[in-house]
Amino acid sequence: MIEIRRINPADPLYAQETDLRERVLLRGAGFDFATFREEYPYEDEAEHFVALTVDSHAGNPVERVLGTALLIPNHPHDGYGKVTQVAVDPQRQGEGIGRRLMVTIESRAFGELGLSEVYCHAQNSAMDFYKRVGWLVDGDEFVEAGIPHHRMFIKTPQPEHAD
Ligand SMILES: CC(C)(COP(=O)(O)OP(=O)(O)OC[C@H]1O[C@@H](n2cnc3c(N)ncnc32)[C@H](O)[C@@H]1OP(=O)(O)O)[C@@H](O)C(=O)NCCC(=O)NCCS
Repeated sequence: MIEIRRINPADPLYAQETDLRERVLLRGAGFDFATFREEYPYEDEAEHFVALTVDSHAGNPVERVLGTALLIPNHPHDGYGKVTQVAVDPQRQGEGIGRRLMVTIESRAFGELGLSEVYCHAQNSAMDFYKRVGWLVDGDEFVEAGIPHHRMFIKTPQPEHAD
């Protein structure tokens, strides 16, 4: 069973989170985690979400991080949020883990935090994933860390009007 949990950098699972991010996202962009952290100093400001399973080893529960996603609230302005570092273990992609991370983040962003829009810089190879979970493309392609991206976003769900 997969659980989505919000953690912070003091959590014992944070090392697994950063390891997964390094393997799935950062190395391909030419970063190790330490260099990335210097260049993008939002680790403490961001909310960290992990997807995890609990295995049993010698009768003891062992938590394993299978997916990650970060939400930076009120970035770049009040009322907006940035989603970044969305990554799922390559052996577990296509099982709905990424979708569950996004559902949790949107619920946090539009519910408790009351944001009106969240956006991301989607690698072109991941754009169809974001489209499948309801996000829209905004503007032209741009290159970040040597990789082609598009800005994508989703706005707070509007209440349905009864006629
Ligand atoms: C992109 C990523 C986070 C998606 O996570 P995932 O757990 O594999 O996605 P899910 O299984 O929840 O997929 C949800 C839907 O998106 C589709 N989808 C997922 N990844 C896709 C991709 N790269 N291209 C096209 N469709 C994709 C799935 O088929 C599924 O469609 P459905 O609604 O018809 O069932 C994951 O593949 C990943 O870590 N990729 C490498 C890192 C990356 O590119 N991160 C994003 C950086 S911007």
